[in-house]
Amino acid sequence: MEKMPYQSELDMNVVIRPPMTDVTTTDWQHRLPTLTGHNVVLRELRTSDAQSLFAMLTTEEVSRFISPPPSTVEGFERFIAWTLRMRTAGTYACFAVTLKGHDTAIGIFQVRELESGFGTAEWGFAIGSPFWGTGIFADGADLVLEFAFETLGVHRLEARCAVKNGRGNGALRKIGAVQEGVLRKSFLRNGEYLDQVMYGVIEDDWRASRTPVRLDRMDIH
Ligand SMILES: CC(C)(COP(=O)(O)OP(=O)(O)OC[C@H]1O[C@@H](n2cnc3c(N)ncnc32)[C@H](O)[C@@H]1OP(=O)(O)O)[C@@H](O)C(=O)NCCC(=O)NCCS
Repeated sequence: MEKMPYQSELDMNVVIRPPMTDVTTTDWQHRLPTLTGHNVVLRELRTSDAQSLFAMLTTEEVSRFISPPPSTVEGFERFIAWTLRMRTAGTYACFAVTLKGHDTAIGIFQVRELESGFGTAEWGFAIGSPFWGTGIFADGADLVLEFAFETLGVHRLEARCAVKNGRGNGALRKIGAVQEGVLRKSFLRNGEYLDQVMYGVIEDDWRASRTPVRLDRMDIH
């Protein structure tokens, strides 16, 4: 998210390439699955989400450590159209975050390939600040990690987070992302080069963290 791949100035120069054959499934390229968590539903973006995403993601507190979001509702409509083209091209997936029982988009999770076939990918996220600290992020992150490792076939999932972004760093750490290093002066925001933390989630670690504890193998005192 720190370097959101969408760039409005490049919007017209999109190359759609044929679907990859070496990903686990290509169904998602036709339409993203709807992912249901405890309190969250992640679904494909729609043009009609532009208004609520504009309201949620363009505030100073949400946008100050990420790539500048579109500055108008129409800009979000173009962004949403772009996400659908990139999904069809098989290089990128962007989910709307909604609450169970409410269809309003309150944020996004996105995953983009860093190498052909999604072996290594990068994810990012932004949620409207009224929903911070509610567990929505962790609920949605669980769904996106499963989608990345099980559906896209990701082996290594990276995230970059500005060192100054306290909530972003806290959020990534608490879902098990591992701090791997600091990318010095790697992100230009508001005329200032910011240091970013590089986080990684490795498929094997993710699978191990999901393995239920076998009580019969534990010494219980
Ligand atoms: C990133 C984001 C989606 C996380 O959602 P969230 O609801 O704020 O996250 P959570 O509250 O579940 O987790 C944040 C954690 O960071 C902690 N935290 C808050 N401020 C912190 C700070 N300054 N330093 C360290 N940790 C901090 C919180 O206490 C919380 O941990 P806890 O649940 O154990 O108490 C949301 O904050 C957001 O949309 N931010 C703006 C967009 C953005 O920065 N995205 C890119 C992130 S790389």
